[in-house]
Amino acid sequence: MTMNNYAKARAHTNIALVKYWGKRNAALKLPTTNSLSLTLDQFYTDTSVQFDDHLTSDQVTLNNHRLDEPAARRVTDFLNIVRNQAGITTKAIVKTTNNVPTAAGLASSASGFAALAAAASKASGLTLNQRELSRLARRGSGSATRSIDGGFVEWHKGIGDRTSFATQVAPADYWDLNVIAILVNQQPKKMSSSEGMQLSQTTSPYYHEWEKLCQRDLKKLKIAIKNRNFNDLGTIAEENAMRMHALTLSAAPDFCYFDADSLKAMRLVHQLRESGIPCYFTMDAGPNVKVLVEPEHRESVVSTLQAAFGPDHIVVAAPGPGVQYFR
Ligand code: DP6
Repeated sequence: MTMNNYAKARAHTNIALVKYWGKRNAALKLPTTNSLSLTLDQFYTDTSVQFDDHLTSDQVTLNNHRLDEPAARRVTDFLNIVRNQAGITTKAIVKTTNNVPTAAGLASSASGFAALAAAASKASGLTLNQRELSRLARRGSGSATRSIDGGFVEWHKGIGDRTSFATQVAPADYWDLNVIAILVNQQPKKMSSSEGMQLSQTTSPYYHEWEKLCQRDLKKLKIAIKNRNFNDLGTIAEENAMRMHALTLSAAPDFCYFDADSLKAMRLVHQLRESGIPCYFTMDAGPNVKVLVEPEHRESVVSTLQAAFGPDHIVVAAPGPGVQYFR
């Protein structure tokens, strides 16, 4: 290859306030509903991609450890999509470092595939705009669609591959907010999001209701963002998260992403709120709880959570940027 065949990118995770929990097309990762997230500054993935004619297979390392063939499969499959678009067959060296606990509900697949989409597409010679990059990231992991942009981001379910991408609702500096992550358990989860949403979708009797409510939650959330109404934003996010988890509890067989510490964290948030401190929680497909709070109440919430879980288990994040390229 004669083109500049190396690129490195950084992408941040995002936390969904109205969640994505179901696909209408699994191969293309087209979602059943729109979703809306906030990109976070503290958790990110750095990925470099080097296409090299001398390679006979892709070589993938995660946090300096070489992944074997089955573990690297998701990356290789994704690179095949990029190679196909770019019209090349060259194999690549992919190096990824996660500043996120992998597979513990802190959305490492979101930052991971957003960074990979950015680095791989650039290294392959493709020149994609934000929407095209967002569509490409979607093919790796649904939530990665939203990590191309910073701040508040909406993923439009679209009517097909070309129309299912994310756009920014408001930039990172639009609203001074904090998301406090409580790392209750950093073990990889037992039920992946993909499997979990598939099971919820096919077996929960409440799934159709979820789709309808997401549409309503999304409308209300966009108004709350427009008015910078924190109580509305928090209420919508907390309710939407619990409805998502209700789909796992009502699936057959049932499953649950909470553990004892997640329940303890949720209870603490309720208590803080009853004592007059506005804060709300949300949770993804893992036991870690994230607490939304405005800066004026941040320290009270942080000290309560630190006392309950230990300072090492609390990370304070703020709205973060979209994809960035190195050199
Ligand atoms: C609970 O994006 O991990 O975090 O598209 O199958 O890779 P796949 O799923 P993934 O699901 C994320 C689910 C969620 C909610 C959200 O981020 O919207």
